Amino acid sequence: MIKPNVTSHEKNGLSIYTLINEYGLSIEVLNLGGIICSINTPDRNGIFKDIVLGFKDPKHYLGEHPYFGAIVGRFANRIAHGKFTLEGKEYSLAQNNGTNHLHGGLSGFDKVFWEVEPLENENGIQLSYTSKDGEEGYPGNLSVTVDYVLTDDNTLQVKYQAQTNKTTVINLTQHSYFNLSGDFSKQILDHELELNADNYLPIDNTQIPVGNYQSVVGTPFDFSTPKTIGRDIEDKNKQLEIGSGYDHCWVINNPNNEIVKAAEVYHPQSGRTMDVYTDQPGMQLYTANFMDNTLPSKTGGTYGPRSGFCLETQHFPNAPNEPSFPTTILNPGETFTSETWFQFSVK
Ligand code: BGC
Repeated sequence: MIKPNVTSHEKNGLSIYTLINEYGLSIEVLNLGGIICSINTPDRNGIFKDIVLGFKDPKHYLGEHPYFGAIVGRFANRIAHGKFTLEGKEYSLAQNNGTNHLHGGLSGFDKVFWEVEPLENENGIQLSYTSKDGEEGYPGNLSVTVDYVLTDDNTLQVKYQAQTNKTTVINLTQHSYFNLSGDFSKQILDHELELNADNYLPIDNTQIPVGNYQSVVGTPFDFSTPKTIGRDIEDKNKQLEIGSGYDHCWVINNPNNEIVKAAEVYHPQSGRTMDVYTDQPGMQLYTANFMDNTLPSKTGGTYGPRSGFCLETQHFPNAPNEPSFPTTILNPGETFTSETWFQFSVK
């Protein structure tokens, strides 16, 4: 039996932290971007494979990539035209996705170096970062911690906390791309997905939610009972056309803002299963539609479209400009908290 522990080593100027639990499940995390660069889990025959997309050589994470495994902030997903108003003052952010702001801007939480400390009472690490007032255009000095805890029931718990000294907006997520086959030359279309969501947020041509909740019933967005990700992904549907596949936020059925099971993914061939629990109102399913075979894969070749999927637990995109959405405002004296668990098992 392997003793639960946390170790670290340096490679190409980056620190890599390894968490391992008593069943041998292991996770590697970089101080850069809090990037999860590997998750090794067994299939139903006990064969361990790395199930998250990323790079073999960590130095590649210093270059351009689509947020592989990273902590995304200060505001995950899009803010329309990179503008929002708080307490009568308009703030302008980088327009780094067409005319919209995406994932916190040009140098978001995915690109900064985090302080990392082992946790005292749990098998995990705490990452800390203070984003200065005005960084990427956002108001307030924002102190953020993210805990990664690996439990002996094979769960990765991600716990976020933040405080500000000026009223600001916040929306944090984890941007891991999963492929439960562990073979990144394979697409994820055969994975069976169930989402605990009766509604999703339809988007405009620039991928900003139009504001209403849309029932999933009778649409390709209905994952309320398990179906493969690929079953309806090529349907003739305006929303799928806009996203070039799934790149939408589902409204998780969670009226009391508790930690609920939001998603279950099953890969029939390997038996690997992942359950996602969260207290967040939204879940962005992104099926790597814009991956274009330019980045080298860990298992050889390059990453193509649909070689992974992200399940990004978060508040709703563009919430600062959409008063009907749950608020993303954080005031001085308050503590932002959010929690998401990824539980790995086999069937
Ligand atoms: C967004 C996509 C974007 C991807 C990588 C996802 O969270 O929804 O539109 O292309 O991240 O940047």
